[in-house]
Amino acid sequence: MLFKKKSELEVLEEIVSSTVVDKETVLGKPLPRHVAIILDGNGRWAQQQGKPRVFGHQAGMFNVEHIAEVASGMNIEAMTLYAFSTENWKRAAEEVAFLMKLPIRFFDRFAPTLMRLNIKTKVLGNKEELPEGLQTAIRRIEQMTANNTGMKLMIALNYGAQDEIMGMVKKIANKVKEAELSLDDIDSKLIDDHLLTKGLPPVDLLIRTSGEQRISNFLLWQIAYAELYFTEIPWPAFKEGALLEAISQFQQRDRRFGGVKK
Ligand code: IPE
Ligand code: IPE
Ligand code: MG
Repeated sequence: MLFKKKSELEVLEEIVSSTVVDKETVLGKPLPRHVAIILDGNGRWAQQQGKPRVFGHQAGMFNVEHIAEVASGMNIEAMTLYAFSTENWKRAAEEVAFLMKLPIRFFDRFAPTLMRLNIKTKVLGNKEELPEGLQTAIRRIEQMTANNTGMKLMIALNYGAQDEIMGMVKKIANKVKEAELSLDDIDSKLIDDHLLTKGLPPVDLLIRTSGEQRISNFLLWQIAYAELYFTEIPWPAFKEGALLEAISQFQQRDRRFGGVKK
């Protein structure tokens, strides 16, 4: 049956099996250059344990550090993590307030790890709408890691792909209006260069945790040919083994990009 809700046993089996993929085997095959993850399920993960939703956000934050360290150790070139969407402002004021404070603590905590691992971090999204304190923390972490040459770690905060696309259209339209560009200059490379992900490889693998099978306004242009991977595991429980399982599945996909395999 399509879209059958998995039983608890099946979910448990998925978590257990996700630890058995052999790391060396995965590392011996071509890896995705750019992995994007929709970090979903924090609230439900906490509620299942009788804890408040924000407990899940805190655990989710610790897991960002864990997964970034694992991905960097595997020499993944770029990772983009969806942490707060332009639609998440609809949530209860207390939850939003918590989510606006959380990254400030996180960036402070995470800074030494980022420097040790040579990770370059950037925040994608409409930063002007974020509280002043968070904007300062973002500037600090971006400046601190600006010259790092290892994995590129993008954190999407107040990010929405439709906003990003509107911004790109306005920037290009304005350049055409000012005669800096002509209509014939508009091609997919030019569009890439006017998006927040400028300079990054296209997304090869898009992961969404916690069972939902939708994009929720994440990278719409950039996932044109991404392989999609959905897992029941909630984000705070998505550990190294689960990432290896996702990549191992990716490695078994037959990517044709519209062509035909001989
Ligand atoms: C993802 O977890 C984090 C954010 C969207 C901020 P959720 O908060 O969406 O958790 P669920 O999906 O309600 O369990
Ligand atoms: C998507 O999760 C946004 C992030 C993970 C940041 P949501 O929980 O907000 O998405 P919906 O509401 O289930 O689509
Ligand atoms: Mg959610």
